[in-house]
Amino acid sequence: MSTLPPTLRWDNGVLHLIDQTRLPLETRIEPQHTVEQVWQAIKQLKVRGAPAIGIAGAYGLVIGLQAKTHLDRPAFMAALAETATYLDSARPTAVNLHWALTRLSQVAAAMTEATPTEIWQRLEQAAIQIHDEDRQLCRAMGEYGAPLIKPGMGVLTHCNAGALATAELGTALAPMYLAHDRGVPFRVYADETRPLLQGARLTSWELQQYGIDVTLICDNMAPHLISQGLIDLVVVGTDRVAANGDVANKIGTLGVAIAAQYFGIPFYVACPYSTIDPDTPTGQAIVIEERGEAEVTYFGARRTAPEGMAVRNPAFDVTPHSLVTGLITDRGIISAPYGENLKQTLKAKRA
Ligand code: MRU
Repeated sequence: MSTLPPTLRWDNGVLHLIDQTRLPLETRIEPQHTVEQVWQAIKQLKVRGAPAIGIAGAYGLVIGLQAKTHLDRPAFMAALAETATYLDSARPTAVNLHWALTRLSQVAAAMTEATPTEIWQRLEQAAIQIHDEDRQLCRAMGEYGAPLIKPGMGVLTHCNAGALATAELGTALAPMYLAHDRGVPFRVYADETRPLLQGARLTSWELQQYGIDVTLICDNMAPHLISQGLIDLVVVGTDRVAANGDVANKIGTLGVAIAAQYFGIPFYVACPYSTIDPDTPTGQAIVIEERGEAEVTYFGARRTAPEGMAVRNPAFDVTPHSLVTGLITDRGIISAPYGENLKQTLKAKRA
């Protein structure tokens, strides 16, 4: 039976999420009762992937305001702004976190005559709506992207842009799930994705659970496999698409895109409209998260670098739009000129 992991679940004021740092060895679902727990879960990558952290952030705001409905309206709105700013500080690169918190803040601001209790109830509905909507966005990206996968293809992906990164089917993995459901035979090559191994721990795990033919490779093997003709298509996710079509994604994506263009392989990026950021003009303006050095100097619990070693650990890179064959959105596949086509996409009817 093909199964997808239950990444996030909202139940009676509590957010339940799979602690992704324990996968694939242990599937532990942890309840989040406080906004601080949600912040930590996002920061520590217990929940990760752009759409999933947007959903978690929205529920986090609802959790944070749960005990504040006794306040008067100005004090409640001030608490809302403060909690949203706090949650937004957990991780900088994926725009979905900021997008979801802004959406909820706007919902509250529009309820000028409502009591804090009424606003809180509406915020809970809005968070559930973001969660439900993401399921539909994933399916729509899957429908548009699935026809790109032809029988016998080798498809490369980087990091995890699957069910564990979203509400359901994923972004980059959604076309793979639907193509597989439709009986198309193909093989996925999953980059392990150093330093935190989202490809090895998460992507290969969820694809294998679903019954998809998946082969794990180290990141430095991808250009070789492309040069050997084993890869026909690259599909990755993204954390933020700038207005000109530049895409930020997990560190290592840029190298894959360069190799794909050199060897003439199509390079697609899957993104829901919630990941397109019209306020960021180009990729250069995207804030790239720098994470702790222990992620680089240790492999699991074992130190693998000399003490005192200087380390850089940028968690994301930016792929220029000139290397992107197309963006698989919930509103269709778009290609260059991205500036104009992204504007039209954001105006278009939702999936
Ligand atoms: O650091 P992570 O694991 O949150 O990084 C996730 C990625 O880079 C994904 O590829 C991206 O968010 C797209 S997820 C649908």
